[in-house]
Order: sequence, then structure tokens, then C-alpha cells
Amino acid sequence: VKLAHLVRRFFGALRPGGPPLADERWAAQVLGPRPFQLWSRMPGHDRRHSIGVARRVEAALASTEVADVRPFLAAALLHDVGKLDSGLGILGRVAATVCAAVAGADMAPLWSQRRGFTRRVGLYLRHPELGASRIELAGGPPQAVAWARAHHEPETYGSLGFPPGVAAALAAADDD
Ligand SMILES: [Fe+2]
Ligand SMILES: [Fe+2]
Repeated sequence: VKLAHLVRRFFGALRPGGPPLADERWAAQVLGPRPFQLWSRMPGHDRRHSIGVARRVEAALASTEVADVRPFLAAALLHDVGKLDSGLGILGRVAATVCAAVAGADMAPLWSQRRGFTRRVGLYLRHPELGASRIELAGGPPQAVAWARAHHEPETYGSLGFPPGVAAALAAADDD
């Protein structure tokens, strides 16, 4: 992760509030009641990020053969929902990213069994699998479950069974 990117993210995230109402309605339509309820629990900056990702995916898939884009828009909207478990604010996330870079992300399972800030950092780093479980429990589409789990592991994209180009579009849309 590049420092400039982190800094940009940091200041962007400080802006309060969720996405515009029209975007919230669009998310509700894409997700259906229970997954939308889950999505709504994310803080404003995470909801704004997820809308941006989903809109870029929508644009990217418009020119492809993919007939049913809804499950993949849901995947874009919900990919980071596991960040709910850490309850980390913006500064805490920067610290978590630094911890992972210094100590190695494989410390996450151990950290998440500790307490306080260490635990939060561990949970934050495990947001892919935690998000996948949440989406599954909320009855979200299996593509969204799979994407939440895989989105930080490009080497697994090939085994997701998504139509050609979809995983790449999802990943590219997230890398703003
Ligand atoms: Fe993520
Ligand atoms: Fe993301």
C-alpha cells in the first residue's frame, strides 16, 4: 500500500456523513432488505467508499457479456463489511495497516484473540473472512460472500468461478 494513497484515504474518510440519499436507495434496491440492513451499519465513509466501488463496477460490467450484474454489485457494496467487527476508527486503521506491514499479516489470528487495541487490529486484518460470514448470515448472494473472503488475495480470483473479467473489474474498482 502506497503512503500517498493512505494519506488520501485518511483525509477523504474524515469527511462526515453517508452517501447521497439516491445512492442509499440504489444500494437498497441492489441488496434487498437484510443485506441492506447489514450495509447500513457501516460508518458513512465506508458506505461512500462502497458506493464508489459499486458504481465503477457497474460501469465496467456494462460493456461485457455478464447478464446478471446484481450479485456482483452486491459484492462491491459489501466487500469491506467485515470492518464492522474491529470498530476501528480512521487512525486505528492506519495503525493496523502499519502493524501488518511491520509484523506480518499472519499475526492477525493471534492478535484477534488478545484484548483492546491489539484485538481490534487483529479483527481489522481479518475483515475479509469476518465480512464473508456476516454476508452469509444476512442471506446475501454467494458471489458477495466469496468476494468478501477473496478480495485481498488476487491469487485466488481464478478459482471464484466468476465470469471472465468480473474479479478483475471488482479489484480495479476498489483500488481508487
Ligand atoms: Fe478490504
Ligand atoms: Fe475497499
